[in-house]
Parts: sequence; structure tokens; C-alpha cells
Amino acid sequence: MIKGENIAVLQRLRENYANKIDLIYIDPPFSTSTTFTIGEKRVSAISMCNDDDVAYSDNLKGFDFIEFIRERLIIARELLSDAGSIYLHIDYKIGHYIKIIMDEVFGIENFRNDITRIKCNPKNFYRKAYGNIKDMILFYSKTKNVIWNDPKLPFNKQDKERLFTKIDKNGRAYTTIPLHAPGETKDGATSGLFKGLKPPQGRHWRCDPRELEELDSAGLIEWSSNGNPRKIIYADEKDGKKMQDIWDFKDYQYPDYPTEKNIDLLKTIISASSSEESMVIDFFCGSGTTLIAAQELNRNWIGIDKSDQAIKIARKKLSKLEKTFFSNCEYSYLEAKNNYELKILNEKNDRKARNFA
Ligand SMILES: C[S@@+](CC[C@H](N)C(=O)[O-])C[C@H]1O[C@@H](n2cnc3c(N)ncnc32)[C@H](O)[C@@H]1O
Repeated sequence: MIKGENIAVLQRLRENYANKIDLIYIDPPFSTSTTFTIGEKRVSAISMCNDDDVAYSDNLKGFDFIEFIRERLIIARELLSDAGSIYLHIDYKIGHYIKIIMDEVFGIENFRNDITRIKCNPKNFYRKAYGNIKDMILFYSKTKNVIWNDPKLPFNKQDKERLFTKIDKNGRAYTTIPLHAPGETKDGATSGLFKGLKPPQGRHWRCDPRELEELDSAGLIEWSSNGNPRKIIYADEKDGKKMQDIWDFKDYQYPDYPTEKNIDLLKTIISASSSEESMVIDFFCGSGTTLIAAQELNRNWIGIDKSDQAIKIARKKLSKLEKTFFSNCEYSYLEAKNNYELKILNEKNDRKARNFA
């Protein structure tokens, strides 16, 4: 964990970590012209009491804000491994400008999703506009060969009833799908005969008829009364439905830190786009949500923030993580004294971090 101005720290990290980071999540300031504070009892978006502490100020506007993000994204791209991804959390007011910058830095061909995140319950806004309950997360990869663990959501009761309408003789719910797909192949095996049947006109078998024979012997093909074969898919063999691009991870009502994000959001991102040996970075880490999620999922992590309050809260949260046989949260804490020098404040047993400092 490093306290400091992130651009200077990123420049130093580039010396040792270029092409080595599998996942970057950042939740930067959103150009809201707001000072975020922390008081005795609550966190706030404007100072409620004179003795509240400032967590951070979000005062850059227009060109200055876009350029602030762009400079950091350029280094972020250099840090990413070829299998790496970046997720940038932003709001609906400034997000579309940042999308253009990300297209420029990462390439539009590497744009993967604009995820809509439902951030709160509907409210009675007084503005003459629709209520805003979402923000956005822009997801890019560095190349096409990105780490992707294809997250699934479990089927709920309604999904199961809607999708798996049939029950076999053993009481297992299932559905069937066609064995052929659009398009004819000229000479390939998939245009051949299966049980004496050609695929219907304008279509081809989804796999080699020899594989279809195996499926049939395993009892995984259902034949309709008029002799049409379909593949059987059992509900209990599917690990869930594909995750879509609208996510419901609401912010906490009583956060420890202003703009603190929901840890399940971070766990989803880290599980989908990194592996256990991966290094994950959040260089606007705030109260450390990304770091805690990464730690709990056994990833390596680096967190950077320049706010005393952020670092204090993140370190307090990390200290509460349970030590288990499989996971032990040991990390080095460094402070950037100025743009070029980092000082180890609390070094445990991480030689790499010491060398880096
Ligand atoms: C929106 S908050 C991040 C909240 C975080 N995702 C969480 O769950 O707690 C943005 C953070 O960026 C930090 N920050 C802003 N500008 C920075 C800079 N130039 N260098 C390092 N940190 C910065 C702020 O101190 C603040 O903690």
C-alpha cells in the first residue's frame, strides 16, 4: 500500500511492473466540485461540521479533469499484462468523455463493456429530469487474449421454471436445444448423415455426426414424435446464467469513507478478470475496497491513495481481515515523500517492496 500522488507512484511502478498487472480497477474523483469529509458519526459530501476531516477534494473540471485521467491511463496501459483488463468507475455526467479517452488509450477494439451499476434505490429527485440511480463502469482489455472467468449468476426459481420446462423419468428438470445451426457447409463432416438424416436445408449439424452418435448413446438426445433430434440440457448441470451488463450493487447507507464502493462489486470484477497469481492495482483505492476484495480472493494487490483519511481507514479494514491457514494479509506500507522518493514505513517481509522503495 502506498500513500502518495498516484502519477508519481505509477511512474516508479512502471520500472518494475510494466506488463505485469492483470487487473486495474479505478474509481477516481468524478469532477463533482465537491469536498468529501469524514466526521465523528458520518461521512458526507460537504462539510457538515467545522471539525470534520477532509477525505478528499474533487475540484478538477473540464479539460483539466480529462487530462488528469488521460495521463494516468497512459501509464496504466503500460502496466497491464497482455492478458490484463482495466475497469474504470465513473458517473453519467462525465463518463462519456472518459469513454472517448479510453478508446484513444486502449483502442476501441479492446472496449468490452459499459456496465450500468445500480447505485441506490429510487429517490424523489426535485430536478426536472428522471431520477439517477446508476453510474457506469467502462471495461477494456489490453489485447484479445484477456483473462476471462465467465462469471455466472445462479438460476432463481423463476428462471428454472421458465427455462427448464420438462422433467425426465428421474425427476430431473431439463430443456432441449436444436442440434443444427444456420448455414450449410459444403464438404465438412457437419453436413454429413446422422442416423440417416441430413441437417435441414440451409443448416449444418452443430458437431461431427460421430459426436452426435455418442450423445445419443449417452441418452442426451431427445427424439420428437416426427423424428427430429434435440440435445438435452439438464438444469442441475448448468452452473448458472451468463452475467449481463446491468449490475445491482448499491452503495452502503452508512459507509466508513465517502464514495466507498460495495465489496461484492469488486469481488465480481476480480473473480471475472484475474487469477490467483494475478497482481491487481487500484491507484485511487480510497478505503481499500479493491484491496480487501483482492486479499479475500487470494490475489496480490497494490493500493495507492494520497489521502491520509483513506489510508487510515483502508489499513484499519485490512487489519481486521482474519488470518487463516490459506490467507495471511501481510503487506508493506510505503509513503511517497515527494515525486521521486518512497520511504518504507512499515516493512514486514516483502523484499520486493523494499527494493522498489
Ligand atoms: C472515489 S474515491 C475511491 C473510493 C474507493 N473506491 C472505495 O471504495 O473506498 C477516490 C479516491 O481517489 C483519491 N485520489 C484522488 N486524486 C488522487 C491522486 N492524484 N493520487 C492519489 N489518490 C488520489 C482520493 O483521495 C479518494 O480517496
